[in-house]
Amino acid sequence: MDNARLTINDQDIDLPITVGTENEVGFGIGKLRGQTGAITVDPGFANTGSCESAITFIDGEKGILRYRGYSIEDLAEHSSFLDVAYLLIYGQLPTRDELDVFHTEIARHSLLHEDMKRFFEGYPASAPPMSVLSAIVSSLSAYYPNGQSEEDVNLNIIRLLAKLNTIAAFSFKKSIGQPYIYPRNDLSYAGDFLHMMFAVPSEEYEVNELLVRTLDMLLILHADHEQNCSTSTVRMVGSSGADLFSSISAGISALSGPLHGGANTAVIDMLEMIRRDGSNFQKYVGKAKDKNDPFRLMGFGHRVYKNFDPRARVIKKTADEVLGQLGIDDPLLDIAKQLERIALEDEYFVARGLYPNVDFYSGILYRAMGIPTNMFTVMFALGRLPGWISQYMEMKNDPATRINRPRQIYIGQNHREYIQIGRRANAT
Ligand code: SDX
Repeated sequence: MDNARLTINDQDIDLPITVGTENEVGFGIGKLRGQTGAITVDPGFANTGSCESAITFIDGEKGILRYRGYSIEDLAEHSSFLDVAYLLIYGQLPTRDELDVFHTEIARHSLLHEDMKRFFEGYPASAPPMSVLSAIVSSLSAYYPNGQSEEDVNLNIIRLLAKLNTIAAFSFKKSIGQPYIYPRNDLSYAGDFLHMMFAVPSEEYEVNELLVRTLDMLLILHADHEQNCSTSTVRMVGSSGADLFSSISAGISALSGPLHGGANTAVIDMLEMIRRDGSNFQKYVGKAKDKNDPFRLMGFGHRVYKNFDPRARVIKKTADEVLGQLGIDDPLLDIAKQLERIALEDEYFVARGLYPNVDFYSGILYRAMGIPTNMFTVMFALGRLPGWISQYMEMKNDPATRINRPRQIYIGQNHREYIQIGRRANAT
């Protein structure tokens, strides 16, 4: 099968077929408009491939997710987040020495320029953390020039991986009126973040190794997900030649939406609402099915997974284990499980392939760590950062990359003669 044949206005044209290493099939439409004058139209790009990529593979029908060929289940069980970040960005799992160098470099760049603290002072305590994160990441361009040499580019990758934790933790401390806790080079990536978030100068903070492992696993599960909304945003902004910090800042903004990364916060708000309403599950499942009701079961459904989201399965299992070990009895976990059971027995959800996604159970674990609900999407961004970086670099180094500029079908007014309607503003 080398070509797809399209017949339009009695004209046959052949479109070249591309088959990926997992036998996904696509056909190229690069010459479509030139040969036929027509374009394709695909709102939400549900049927459109934007690129060829070697980073992440998803099989939505089988619930498969792999980073550079490794299954998400294996990586979650056997790797650290820095292992996975290195794998996504550089293409291979690091050796012990490579990982040590990677961690040391990141630790040594985890401080923010002291002048950047003034940015936090300008925000009210109520500032949405994702807005703060996006703005301050964009401001990194003012402190670290957008060097194009391989060494400069790699240094900016290390700086971003190192400083995003610090930015997130400082914005949290500012929002609760506590002093900033500076990064420590002797702690792990996840341990240092928890320390910056929860330590206070007046007492010793002992990093809980169970929470460190849990956070590390959550970061791995969020690390990449092929061409999702925020990653496509990073690629689109970067395709104009915009620098890494500016492109990642745009990705953070895209992730903040409740249909995307903001869903983990929306899930907890939904579970709390159901609990306050006497755990009336059927009422909310009914609302979710009602086309006249804007209510959706947040944390359910996915553009690609029409079966279980493998990340949700790992998180659900971990939630049971971690809350059990911590002796936490979170009523929201039981409500979530009951909601999942009722929905997955309902034809509406089964027929549409609506299963719990990565956001459905993740908030339960963040709560167990003491992370406030309004920081949940920031946690998603911390995990997704190496994925965004790897996708930005793949786009930047791909000779097929062109500035992203989609076409449209115009449906507005045809040409009309100009007739003076109101009096001209500057008419005497
Ligand atoms: C993430 O793309 C990624 O990979 C994203 C992500 C990543 O790692 O980057 O996986 C992270 O964003 C996960 C998704 C988090 N969002 C939510 O949980 C919000 C709730 N979910 C939905 O809004 C929805 O399922 C989306 C946004 C996730 C997917 O939207 P689609 O693919 O555009 O699907 P759709 O809106 O066209 O829905 C198809 C049908 C519709 O019904 P019909 O018109 O066929 O009758 O399913 C219904 C929808 O009404 N539907 C839901 C529903 N999700 C879809 N009905 C009730 N509750 C829901 N949650």
